[in-house]
Amino acid sequence: MHLLIPAAGLGKRMGSHRNKLLLEVLGRPLLAWTLTAIRATPAISWLGIIGQPGDFPDWQVLLAEFDFPYPTVLIPGGKTRQESVYNGLQALPDDATQVLIHDGARCLATPDLFQRCAQALENCSGFVAAIPVKDTIKIVNSTNIVTATPNRDFLWAAQTPQGFWVQELKDCHQKGRDLGLEVTDDAALFEKFDLPVQIVMGEETNLKITTPADLALAEQILKGRFNP
Ligand code: CTP
Ligand code: MG
Repeated sequence: MHLLIPAAGLGKRMGSHRNKLLLEVLGRPLLAWTLTAIRATPAISWLGIIGQPGDFPDWQVLLAEFDFPYPTVLIPGGKTRQESVYNGLQALPDDATQVLIHDGARCLATPDLFQRCAQALENCSGFVAAIPVKDTIKIVNSTNIVTATPNRDFLWAAQTPQGFWVQELKDCHQKGRDLGLEVTDDAALFEKFDLPVQIVMGEETNLKITTPADLALAEQILKGRFNP
């Protein structure tokens, strides 16, 4: 299974002066924890890290440390996550039929989740890892007045991995680009063009590390897992 890791963001909401994936968590760059789970997932056989070229030397050091037993490549990212994934899709080898996409910032996803996600593509052409929403969600207007409260039974919080058949996803990305659509995940492009996206049960701890509070939580969770 081919796996693309978008890692080319700036981490603005983290408020750090560099890519948040380079920030240290328990003495290692955040992305090292994402790679630790990937290294322990038997289904993965090709890895592409989509990064800012300025970060490539750091990612090369990490890749050397992990010594993956299959091809690994560094792919230049774009201005948005959508552009970064687009670049990643172009860099896939011709024989790639299915692909998992996992945000570098989700460093708490487990090998079990990656493995279940890889298996999901045996029975569907597109999926998203997601968990039932715990909070009640409000829809508001432009003046922050609540206009609706959707039924929670139908609300799921999307995570990554997301996975797709490569040709379908490439077509969706190309059409989305041509139409100027802007989306924050890949499943949204699949949906836009009426292709079915299956839910795979995600993990409550599979946080996207976005703010300093997330970073502190991730450190606690990783301490519990790796330093009991
Ligand atoms: N990402 C990317 N290319 C971009 C923007 C984001 O590859 N141009 C990646 C990030 O590195 C991250 C994932 O997409 O692994 C999810 O994005 P997000 O959490 O929003 O990270 P950032 O964009 O770095 O953070 P912020 O939005 O706060 O600047
Ligand atoms: Mg972002």
